[in-house]
Amino acid sequence: MQPPPAPRPIEQRQPALDLLDDQRIERLGSDGFFVVDGFLGTEAALAIRGEALALSHAGTLRPAGLGRGDALRLERAARGDEIAWLDPQESPPALRAFLGRLESVRDEVNRGAYLGLRRYEVQVARYDRGAGYVRHRDAFPGGPNRTLTAIYYLNDGWIPAHGGALRLFPTGREPLELAPLLDRLVVFRSADLEHEVCPSWAERLAVTAWFYGREDLPR
Ligand code: OGA
Ligand code: MN
Repeated sequence: MQPPPAPRPIEQRQPALDLLDDQRIERLGSDGFFVVDGFLGTEAALAIRGEALALSHAGTLRPAGLGRGDALRLERAARGDEIAWLDPQESPPALRAFLGRLESVRDEVNRGAYLGLRRYEVQVARYDRGAGYVRHRDAFPGGPNRTLTAIYYLNDGWIPAHGGALRLFPTGREPLELAPLLDRLVVFRSADLEHEVCPSWAERLAVTAWFYGREDLPR
């Protein structure tokens, strides 16, 4: 007799996500972004936070936008975070499960918005002590480039005095600010939506993924 099959890991047993109702897809088109609060639940978010913190304590984070000499100083003024690129295959378990869910989001965006998203790159970023990131886009319109940005925040007990809001500048609409709250996912069109990170006065952690279109390869 054959032994009964081993139960599949939890992540594989989850039904397909239905995160992207028509409204969210519509917002991606009209406003260029959408927000999902409570993306994975507090427990999962805290596990991911723990892994991201471990990476930062292990000294794997490096100043973003590394330059040389004066260029480095100038870039630090424009962008003060420290980052580590993640290899999805080599990531610790909670981060890997998170990336699996993000791939489901990508698949739903592809079904609903025909963006043809495929490969992605992912980083952990940490801001602290007044660090911010000046207004920018994640991609320039036109050439092979980032198509969709997804940022997942990992900050438990965040209060307004900590600053660190993500300020969005949707075309034809008032700017708005989103606090980097634990378990909040913000998704936007990389080439269209200008945004900035306001100076952060507490440790501010996030995992960010950039999805590329059909023909576009990461750097
Ligand atoms: C970026 C960025 C925003 C944030 O890394 O390009 O804009 O809220 N991050 O962390
Ligand atoms: Mn950005």
